[in-house]
Amino acid sequence: MAGGIAGAAYRRIYSGVNYRMRSFAGGALAGRCRPVAIMLLLTERCNARCVHCDIWKNKGKEDSPDTSEWKHLLDDLRKWLGPVDIVFTGGEALLKQNTTELARHAVSLGFALEVLTHGYWEDQSKIEKLAAAKPHRITISLDGIGETHSKVRGRDDFFEKTQRTIETLVRMREHDSLGYQIRLKTVIMEHNLGDLANVARFATRPGMEVFYQPIEQNYNTPEDPEWFRSSPNWPRDPSQAVRAVRELQQLHRDGLHIANSQQQLEVMVRYFEDPEGLRLTTQAHQAHERQHFCSSLGTLQIQSDGGVGFCARMPVVGNFRAMPIRQIWETRPRWWESGCCMSQPRQGVPEPLHQIATDGASHDSPGGNGCHAPVE
Ligand SMILES: C[S@@+](CC[C@H](N)C(=O)[O-])C[C@H]1O[C@@H](n2cnc3c(N)ncnc32)[C@H](O)[C@@H]1O
Ligand code: SF4
Repeated sequence: MAGGIAGAAYRRIYSGVNYRMRSFAGGALAGRCRPVAIMLLLTERCNARCVHCDIWKNKGKEDSPDTSEWKHLLDDLRKWLGPVDIVFTGGEALLKQNTTELARHAVSLGFALEVLTHGYWEDQSKIEKLAAAKPHRITISLDGIGETHSKVRGRDDFFEKTQRTIETLVRMREHDSLGYQIRLKTVIMEHNLGDLANVARFATRPGMEVFYQPIEQNYNTPEDPEWFRSSPNWPRDPSQAVRAVRELQQLHRDGLHIANSQQQLEVMVRYFEDPEGLRLTTQAHQAHERQHFCSSLGTLQIQSDGGVGFCARMPVVGNFRAMPIRQIWETRPRWWESGCCMSQPRQGVPEPLHQIATDGASHDSPGGNGCHAPVE
């Protein structure tokens, strides 16, 4: 069942069944859903200085699970859920010495593993070891080409080092016939509106793609519903952002390797026109979906101290070091029954987008791609 066609078929069915269970029979079966967006934040420390994320401001020693505790968690997840999609992220996951060992373990269990990194590494042996672990996908954040990226990421040589990481991944994949996808991830914000199309052109190589995500409130900051009114990251002229996204839609039609669907890009246009109306669904990475569900029906986020969360807007519920992960999931509060923030009427989304969430969308939908929204 591990990798290959059988694993891919399993993930497709798993994901499809769990998405549909949320809406089937008016949600009567929702409580029996299993997680489809599973993220392990291996650390909440970071060596970047990004303008759009405050995780790097976390200081001090972390009380993290050790390697055997993380492995035990992976074993439990595998027994419970089968060879599903999982994501290693952070913070900067590659700051931890044990990340590649954990990646090897996850892959050996049959998970389709995605690892997110900023790629800012002088020591390329770290990247080589990660590549050799054979994850399903390696995602590198790239917010622009050259100076734009370094400015967003807060260090002069950020672009050069990130580019070297991308080259290492391309070289290793060719040389060792490794099958991972290379995904670039670009956050659309004031500072890179003129560079978005250049990232799509940069990603035109075989086996490489780019996924765009609109700017949200800085991660790791107290929630502020009006954040976009004062944030320097929000486009000063939203119509410029709209034009930039329209250009991406055209490049998508022209066949450039843009991983977003046209629907996802269309809903980004609406978000830049109406940030207030689409704030919560965008933060939950559900803005493009037909129906919006409580995040706790699909998201399982393990924090760097072992804490287990289901919604970025609610407190963690338990710790996998104290209770088996399956038990934490099955006894979590039933927020979806008491009316959560997602049950408010949908605003600003055009009718043609109303279609069933697709199978295999787990990496790009609820909380996918290392969602780490603001803290309360
Ligand atoms: C929190 S980072 C963790 C992984 C790694 N450190 C990195 O930067 O790729 C995961 C992703 O979230 C994105 N991100 C951070 N702050 C964001 C914000 N305010 N709005 C949207 N995406 C954001 C990052 O650009 C990155 O692609
Ligand atoms: S986006 Fe990633 S690299 Fe930037 S501060 Fe946040 S965790 Fe660090």
